[in-house]
Amino acid sequence: MFAAHSKALERQEIIQLLKLKGTERTALLQRAREVKIKEVGNKVYFRGLIEFSNVCSKDCLYCGIRKGNEKVLRYDAKDDEILNACRFAWENRFASVVLQSGELSSPAFVKRVDDLLKKIKQLSNNELGITLSCGEQSLETYRRWFESGAHRYLLRIESSTRELYYKIHPENDHHSFEKRLEALASLKQAGYQVGTGVMIGLPFQTYEHLADDLLFFKKIDIDMCGMGPYIEHADTPLYEHRHVLMSKQERFDLALNMVAVLRLLMPDINIAAATALQAIDPAGREKALAVGANVIMPNLTPCEYREEYQLYENKPCLDEDAELCRNCLEARISLAGAEIGYGEWGDSKHFHQRN
Ligand code: 5AD
Ligand code: FES
Repeated sequence: MFAAHSKALERQEIIQLLKLKGTERTALLQRAREVKIKEVGNKVYFRGLIEFSNVCSKDCLYCGIRKGNEKVLRYDAKDDEILNACRFAWENRFASVVLQSGELSSPAFVKRVDDLLKKIKQLSNNELGITLSCGEQSLETYRRWFESGAHRYLLRIESSTRELYYKIHPENDHHSFEKRLEALASLKQAGYQVGTGVMIGLPFQTYEHLADDLLFFKKIDIDMCGMGPYIEHADTPLYEHRHVLMSKQERFDLALNMVAVLRLLMPDINIAAATALQAIDPAGREKALAVGANVIMPNLTPCEYREEYQLYENKPCLDEDAELCRNCLEARISLAGAEIGYGEWGDSKHFHQRN
C-alpha cells in the first residue's frame, strides 16, 4: 500500500493517504514510524527556541503578532537575556538554539542579529548550533549571518499554492509569494540547511493544496520541515472565516497524516514536532514524534515575554520556565518511546547527503 522507497508517491496517492482514517490511517502512521527509525534513527533532537522580539513589519492575516494588531505589547529581549537562554541550552547539552523574531530588515536589525550570533558562538566555544527564523531577507544578509555562525534557517512557505498564499496574506509588495520563493532559494545558495513548512487546516485549503505542498518540499529539496495545525486568533482578519474551518481535532489528525506522508516522501530530512500541535492536544508533539518527527523545540523565551508572542490562541507553556520545560519534555519523550540526542547537533542527514 505504501510506495516509499520503491517509487515516488504520486499526487493522487498522496491525497488518498492524507484522507485516511481508522485502521488504514493507523497503518500509515506505523509505516512512517518505521521509516523514520530506519532512516534517521530513534533520537529526538532539542532546539532551544528563543523568541527574542515580536516587533514585526508584516501583516499576515492569520498571525497574532502581525503589525496591525495593536493589542500586542511589543518587546525586544535584551542581549543578556538572550545569551542567558543560550547558556542554559548549552549547559543542558541542547546543542542547538533557534532564534526567532518578527520580520524586520532595517540595517540595525541585521546588525543586531549579526552581533548576537557572534556572541553566542563565543559563549559556547563555537559549539552551540544556531538556527535563525527571522523572515525574508536579502541574499547578502543571509550570507552575512551565515558567516557569523548561523547554519540552519526556517522560513515557512505557509502555502505553496500562489492563490491560497494570497488568501492568507495581503496582496502587496511586502507580502509577495515570488519573494518568498526567492528567499528560500537564496538561503540554499548561502549554504544553510533550509527548513520550510505550512499551516494545516487553513480556511480555503484543500487536500490538493496540501499534497502540492508536500510535492513542493520535495521539488525544492528541503532539509528540514516544521508544519502544524492552523489555530485561529481572534485579533486577526482570518478569524472571520472560522466557520468554514475543520474541527480542531480534524486539523490535528490531518497534521499527523502530513508528517507521516512527508516522512515517506523524504525519509532522511529532519521534521519538527510543531508547538501548535500541543495547543490542540497536550500530548500533541509527542504524537508527532511517534509518527515521523525527530526534532522538538523547547521554549526558552524568558517567561515575561511569552504572553506577547502568541501567534495563535492557547499557545502552550506560557508560564513554564526553561528548567521545568526540560524536565517535562524528558518525561514526555521517554513516554513516546524515543531517546534524546543530547550534545549532538542532529543535522539533517539529507543536507549532508546532498552536499
Ligand atoms: N496558527 C498556527 N500557526 C501560526 N503561525 C503564525 N500564525 C499562526 C496561527 N494562527 C506560524 C506560521 C509562521 C510560524 C512562525 O508560526 O506558519 O511561519
Ligand atoms: Fe507573518 Fe507573524 S506577521 S507570521
